[in-house]
Amino acid sequence: MNPSTLLIVDDERTLARSIKLFMTEQGYEAEVAENGDIALELLDRLRPEVVFLDVCLPGHNGIDLLRRIKEFDRNIAVIMMTAYGSIEGAVEAVRLGAFDYIKKPVDLDELKLLADRACESARLRQELSYYREREIREIPFMGIIGKCDAIRDIIARITQIAALEDSPPILITGETGTGKGLVARTLHRRSRRASRAFIEVNCTALPATLMEAELFGYERGAFTDAKESKMGLFEAADGGFLYLDEVGDTELPLQGKLLRAVEERVIRRVGGLRDRRVDVTIVAATHRDLETEVKAARFRKDLYYRLAVITIDLPPLRERGDDILLLAAHFLEIFNAKYGKAIRAIDDRAARTLCEYPWPGNIRELSHVIERAVLWSHGDRLSVDQLSLTSGPMNLPAKPLPAADLACGTLPREGIDLAAWERSLLEQALRDSGGNQTKAARLLRLSRDTLRYRLKKFGLSQP
Ligand SMILES: Nc1ncnc2c1ncn2[C@@H]1O[C@H](COP(=O)(O)OP(=O)(O)OP(=O)(O)O)[C@@H](O)[C@H]1O
Ligand SMILES: [Mg+2]
Repeated sequence: MNPSTLLIVDDERTLARSIKLFMTEQGYEAEVAENGDIALELLDRLRPEVVFLDVCLPGHNGIDLLRRIKEFDRNIAVIMMTAYGSIEGAVEAVRLGAFDYIKKPVDLDELKLLADRACESARLRQELSYYREREIREIPFMGIIGKCDAIRDIIARITQIAALEDSPPILITGETGTGKGLVARTLHRRSRRASRAFIEVNCTALPATLMEAELFGYERGAFTDAKESKMGLFEAADGGFLYLDEVGDTELPLQGKLLRAVEERVIRRVGGLRDRRVDVTIVAATHRDLETEVKAARFRKDLYYRLAVITIDLPPLRERGDDILLLAAHFLEIFNAKYGKAIRAIDDRAARTLCEYPWPGNIRELSHVIERAVLWSHGDRLSVDQLSLTSGPMNLPAKPLPAADLACGTLPREGIDLAAWERSLLEQALRDSGGNQTKAARLLRLSRDTLRYRLKKFGLSQP
């Protein structure tokens, strides 16, 4: 290991020299500066790990110099040396970031111990900052990859929420596969509750009565199968987070009970008589537009307002610009490692195709596309032939067919997937008509019944 370097700043020459001599014998490299100006000059040349600094120096106030040294490099450990009577100055210096202080006349052994301790702690600090930096560089914001404005804003918001002592409910919205679950877990991991539970529950999974028992628990005898009482997920998440995925799918009868739990933070087990207090941070997510659900009387307005105190809206992948390629590179690395491949780049045509595709399944779909491509490719570049974007029922044509092409009936040379086009046009018509089927049917010159039939055929009917 390289010897650590010390700088001794003291105008008492004999003392400074004897420290230098002793510390050199102990394996340190040491230099002396008689005043502040020389000290500042030497900092740059020596890059010392430790500075012994006299509190009273001619020309410079020791505290002032301490500040300058810390400005130069805050990792340098400064040990103040103080004569009898200037202890307050030394204590003030420690408050301002000095590592420690030692009283004059100095005991050389004590001095060495202090220097050893300062070097060790500087080493540990550097190690820690190395790992922190690496974490920030290599695991961008705990796994959320993206540099577009929307993602930057979301990361900033997560940081703000994480700093709250006690967060109100958070509602995450976004299409399927946009990272709602990832954001929910990140909120938890960044929060003060990171060491407590994170419990995830999918609200679509069970009918209302079973869901109620799942969320709030039940007492023995509450129903035929209830042989013993059981704690619900709210209680299990006490002190931590409860992630209510697809909350927009909760059935109406359960929504009232959910509101009480979220708002008053009390729950009652099914078949139970007493209320139990729970301290749970609620994160809810949905791919639905809850305002529309409220208007259609499918979702309680009061519950919506309660859940949406803080909202995070995740944009679809097609609106994230170059993040598509950033994410593709990220998945490439993951699947290279998983399948022992060495694909180092995505060629230009493939990159353009990835950027133009509408990604109905968002980031999840992108990760599957890259996984398949890595699995089947041999070379070191990923080309467009390896991107299986047009297979499978979720895949839509890359762009809406231009009206002119439709009008003159020209087909692209490679042909088209008629079913995928039809589905895409149906979706466009629904979007353009705000979900109004009569208007959508008119746009497509279909009768309402035919439209309904076709929506059903493609699984696009609304509940
Ligand atoms: N910004 C991102 N950076 C890296 N990976 C991401 C990002 N967003 C999503 N992912 C990954 O994509 C996959 C899908 O994300 P996630 O399950 O969180 O989406 P979701 O919105 O909850 O989807 P669903 O609505 O279907 O439940 C996960 O593997 C997730 O880790
Ligand atoms: Mg999810």
